[in-house]
Amino acid sequence: MARSSAARVLVLHGPNLNLLGTREPAVYGRTTLAQLDGEIQRHAARRGAKAVCRQSNHEGQLIDWIQAAAQEGFQAIVINPGALTHYSLALRDAVSAVSVPVVEVHLSNIHAREEFRRHSVIAAAARGQIAGFGPASYLLGVDAALQLVAAGRPRRRLR
Ligand code: DQA
Repeated sequence: MARSSAARVLVLHGPNLNLLGTREPAVYGRTTLAQLDGEIQRHAARRGAKAVCRQSNHEGQLIDWIQAAAQEGFQAIVINPGALTHYSLALRDAVSAVSVPVVEVHLSNIHAREEFRRHSVIAAAARGQIAGFGPASYLLGVDAALQLVAAGRPRRRLR
């Protein structure tokens, strides 16, 4: 199947992010997931790229999407793993397993919150992490992902 040459970025939202807008607005703001996805898509389009946004409350679904990303024609992944950030070794292994670069993003500054949120098991497998800028974390994540695609950086070595 012929694909356009525009970079394609897969944006994944993990558990409970479907509730954005009403979920703990003091922490996550009033922007709904649909509004956020619209912002992300317009941001990518302004950069000549295409963002496809998906949300799931299920770890296995997120893993399936990560595994299939290259096959689906995505050159990079931006993911907010939600609470899976803090304990999902299966998600971390999926990020490690693929050659598509993965950027981890969070709406809140997880490093300034409860102790259990300060550690990400995903971060060491991702190319980098952006946290604390609200919806802009995703836009910065898309920019970082597009830079990685443009640079065509080889996958960093496992330690
Ligand atoms: C979050 C932070 C996580 O600790 C939390 O479980 C979420 C959202 C964020 O975007 O700030 O679901 O990933």
